[in-house]
Amino acid sequence: MSSSNVFAMLSLLLLSISSCAGAAAIDKRLPVPAGYVAAPYYPAPHGGWTSDWSESYRKASLLVQNMTLAEKTNITAGTGIYMGRCVGNTGSALRVGIPQLCLQDGPLGVRNTDHNTAFPPGITTGATWDKDLMHARGVALGEEFRGKGINVHLGPSVGPLGRKPRGGRNWEGFGADPVLQGFGGALTVEGVQSVGVIATIKHFIANEQEMYRMYNLVQPGISSNLDDRTLHELYLWPFAEGIRSGVGAVMIAYNAVNGSACSQNSYLMNGILKDELGFQGFVMSDWLAQISGVSSALAGLDMTMPGDIHTVPLVLGESYWMDEYSRAILNGSTPVDRLNDAVTRILAAYFQMGQDQNYPPPNFDTNTQDAEGPLYPGALFSPTGVVNEFVDVQGNHAEVAREIARDAITLLKNINGTLPLSGNATLKVFGTDAEKNPDGINSCSDQGCNKGTLGMGWGSGSARYPYMNSPIDGLNTRGANYQFFNTDSFPSNSNPSPSDVAIVFVTADSGENYITVENNPGDRTSSNLNLWHNGDQLIKDVAAQYSNVIVIVHTVGPVLLEEWHDLPSVKAVLFAHLPGQEAGDSLMQVLFGDVSPSGHLPYTIPTSEDDYPESVGLVYFEVGQPQDTFTEGLYIDYRHFNKAGIKPRYAFGHGLSYTSFSFSNATITPVTPLTATPPTRPAKGETPSYPTTIPPASEAYWPDNFNRIWRYLYSWLDKSDADAAAAAANSSATYPYPEGYSNEQKPGPPAGGAQGGNPALFDVAYDVSVTITNTGSRAGKAVAQLYVQFPSGISFDTPVIQLRDFEKTAELAANQSQTVQMRVTRKDLSVWDVVSQNWIIPSVDGEYGIWIGESSDTLALKCSTASGSCTGNQTSPV
Ligand SMILES: *[C@@H]1O[C@H](CO)[C@@H](O)[C@H](O)[C@H]1NC(C)=O
Ligand SMILES: *[C@@H]1O[C@H](CO)[C@@H](O)[C@H](O)[C@H]1NC(C)=O
Ligand SMILES: *[C@@H]1O[C@H](CO)[C@@H](O)[C@H](O)[C@H]1NC(C)=O
Ligand SMILES: *[C@@H]1O[C@H](CO)[C@@H](O)[C@H](O)[C@H]1NC(C)=O
Ligand SMILES: *[C@@H]1O[C@H](CO)[C@@H](O)[C@H](O)[C@H]1NC(C)=O
Ligand SMILES: *[C@@H]1O[C@H](CO)[C@@H](O)[C@H](O)[C@H]1NC(C)=O
Ligand SMILES: *[C@@H]1O[C@H](CO)[C@@H](O)[C@H](O)[C@H]1NC(C)=O
Ligand SMILES: *[C@@H]1O[C@H](CO)[C@@H](O)[C@H](O)[C@H]1NC(C)=O
Ligand SMILES: *[C@@H]1O[C@H](CO)[C@@H](O)[C@H](O)[C@H]1NC(C)=O
Ligand SMILES: *[C@@H]1O[C@H](CO)[C@@H](O)[C@H](O)[C@H]1NC(C)=O
Repeated sequence: MSSSNVFAMLSLLLLSISSCAGAAAIDKRLPVPAGYVAAPYYPAPHGGWTSDWSESYRKASLLVQNMTLAEKTNITAGTGIYMGRCVGNTGSALRVGIPQLCLQDGPLGVRNTDHNTAFPPGITTGATWDKDLMHARGVALGEEFRGKGINVHLGPSVGPLGRKPRGGRNWEGFGADPVLQGFGGALTVEGVQSVGVIATIKHFIANEQEMYRMYNLVQPGISSNLDDRTLHELYLWPFAEGIRSGVGAVMIAYNAVNGSACSQNSYLMNGILKDELGFQGFVMSDWLAQISGVSSALAGLDMTMPGDIHTVPLVLGESYWMDEYSRAILNGSTPVDRLNDAVTRILAAYFQMGQDQNYPPPNFDTNTQDAEGPLYPGALFSPTGVVNEFVDVQGNHAEVAREIARDAITLLKNINGTLPLSGNATLKVFGTDAEKNPDGINSCSDQGCNKGTLGMGWGSGSARYPYMNSPIDGLNTRGANYQFFNTDSFPSNSNPSPSDVAIVFVTADSGENYITVENNPGDRTSSNLNLWHNGDQLIKDVAAQYSNVIVIVHTVGPVLLEEWHDLPSVKAVLFAHLPGQEAGDSLMQVLFGDVSPSGHLPYTIPTSEDDYPESVGLVYFEVGQPQDTFTEGLYIDYRHFNKAGIKPRYAFGHGLSYTSFSFSNATITPVTPLTATPPTRPAKGETPSYPTTIPPASEAYWPDNFNRIWRYLYSWLDKSDADAAAAAANSSATYPYPEGYSNEQKPGPPAGGAQGGNPALFDVAYDVSVTITNTGSRAGKAVAQLYVQFPSGISFDTPVIQLRDFEKTAELAANQSQTVQMRVTRKDLSVWDVVSQNWIIPSVDGEYGIWIGESSDTLALKCSTASGSCTGNQTSPV
């Protein structure tokens, strides 16, 4: 037994022990607040009805027709935790040419490997507001996943959306707004899939905090209780965009919605994802999120990962599916039609990305960094072999990583042109964040510590750094005149001189719930929204001794700046977000003025945490199922601050430059005429059909003399078990189907019709253009942000303004202009009407304000849909 086997077995035991402390039933639904209901939606809609997937479905159905029961159930589940080289490994169907599929984390790079790029995470990418960079990062990510032989990339993350400022995993996504998150997610999907890798948009849905997210024997996972309109207009929006871009996989979240676990919530998977949003790929569970076999299949789950049941006796190699799925088909509990659809969806995604053509097998091992090791570390005895081939997949991706890190840097404050620095400035640098973790850049597993330069948060959404280009490395490369005090307490020996410029590096971290860092169990429970490591004190101490202080913040999200922001010596404040491996040179390019900063905040920075609605605070321990009720509805982040009339420290979208821009010559052109309701959706196309008869029990018999690996998950049954199951199908004891169950395929809701919903929702209602001129003396990139203000007097309460599009210019030289094009779609001008279950335009001829500016609180250009004209010098609506 090798050391990694021992390690793996210990982890398994710990996982099991931590979830077996009691015996409360988890299959009964606990009460949720009055009015929140998880309605049944059956059956699972067949995939294959949109023309853009029909060829892939044709290929898939030819195979599925020829597959045995055990082959089909084999590819709907993982072979078990630590039972292969990837974090998830499906079974294979080699007889028909389908290999095991390799699924691997995570959204910012290939996790647990070597010779990969540690890209800046989503939040940093969002802060660039640059669609081209969002796409380019997706392509580069896809190349690295493909290069490692990974079929399914477990990203992008567009949920959490960032409803809770303390939420642990907000940094994996692109910002606290559905449209910014939607473009970030969809462009990543398009980039990743352009090189043949299946992308996975996750976590579906309303997974807004880390604590209590998982079901265990004593407590069900947290229930996110939210109304239908809020679901559609906020949390579902980025998923709809990703599906519209053709995403191949969706990962469901750990939590429940309205009391029903996402992994078996038929309304969400069957109704919303597969019918309304026309999702054509497959739905997988988050790791160990599945809590039932037949129910989850009926509710629309297509693949379970990593295959095992979620709790004891995990160590013994048990699955809700695999052999149990074969049994459930034979005994008639799960209609064979459901299994055929799940398998067809998985194989269709495989063909849709062209993975049948020369796709490389995995050449790395997520479980070990050794060249050789056990092939099945989760088994007691495992054959060993070559597991890591150390394939370098970095290409020239450091360039796009650096460009994102640089163009995300958000200048919040810059008094009297303190920045950029002159090359000969005398610098005093403070804070341990300026230099690499002295214990080693990858010394904490899954980056589960905040030590040294903070390039990413922690958890499964992290990756190992191939190197860390720290700010100190950056200063060295430039030959800057600096002195570094590698401490978070103000040193007594820094000898301040009046001409010195002091640079203080500070951080705030968060991550995934299975690791606790400095008493923060994923969510920022202990640090609150404050800087870590007494950052406020360090800044104040430096500001007391130096008169030119620049604060650089590496952070996962909003932090409070109030203790020091207005001190006279604090001249400049920069958010460098989470830069990934390229922290140093990217920052130097901005500090020394090679480029002007061009990032903008992807969230609001408040002056006090009390300024948020109470309902977006973290939910702590509750007996039974913790209830998280989204009573603030649509009013999160800037939507809330604007409604409540609270001026934040910095508004959503804020970001300064070294130069200045003017916006002029705006035009608005009607394109598609609007109607109160969208045109009728197209009908569903044909989907593959198969015999619905239960296959012979012999299709699930173990092959003769098969050499089983202990704990490995197989889809076969003993002959006697298979025969007994088949006999049970003829008995009168039928499976207790859920309320509302039916085998009759539905035509689909009016709001559906194509990937992402009714295609008419995406019709362009107005083209909008604006000319941006660099009116300053330095080169720089500007961001145009377009917000919609609904007409007054309508019967729907709507946020004051909502982001609907944005565009970043190329680098403009002084006096140079660029005209950028944006668009407003039908959906952008609609509200979700819960009564008609459709997107409606509340006032077709109403005066919609289309506001354009550099941030959500400096909107001076207004185009009107009623007058068809645009005027400048307007008073910003907020
Ligand atoms: C949750 O309950 C609310 C209130 O009844 C309802 O509007 C919404 O559609 C439900 N959502 C889901 C996903 O079941
Ligand atoms: C399916 O099986 C039939 C009959 O055995 C064979 O002719 C056909 O080529 C097979 N199709 C595929 C896609 O394997
Ligand atoms: C299921 O997948 C495993 C792993 O690839 C393989 O050993 C086994 O033969 C497969 N079972 C079937 C029925 O093809
Ligand atoms: C059929 O098998 C499934 C999976 O093991 C099980 O949940 C179900 O209760 C069985 N049904 C009958 C009628 O035996
Ligand atoms: C900015 O510079 C001007 C002119 O040197 C000076 O009067 C003013 O006090 C400075 N402002 C701040 C906030 O330092
Ligand atoms: C630094 O260089 C600038 C020009 O780049 C010059 O104006 C300034 O006097 C220099 N300062 C010092 C302290 O040498
Ligand atoms: C004004 O906008 C129009 C339409 O986009 C564009 O063709 C034109 O060049 C712009 N004019 C100026 C002066 O920038
Ligand atoms: C179940 O019943 C059908 C029809 O009555 C029969 O053809 C089949 O052999 C039976 N299966 C088993 C396993 O008893
Ligand atoms: C920009 O335009 C102004 C006014 O036309 C002119 O004075 C200035 O020299 C120009 N600057 C550059 C860098 O071309
Ligand atoms: C705003 O007003 C200024 C001064 O009156 C004028 O020069 C400028 O063109 C106006 N801007 C717009 C976009 O109308």
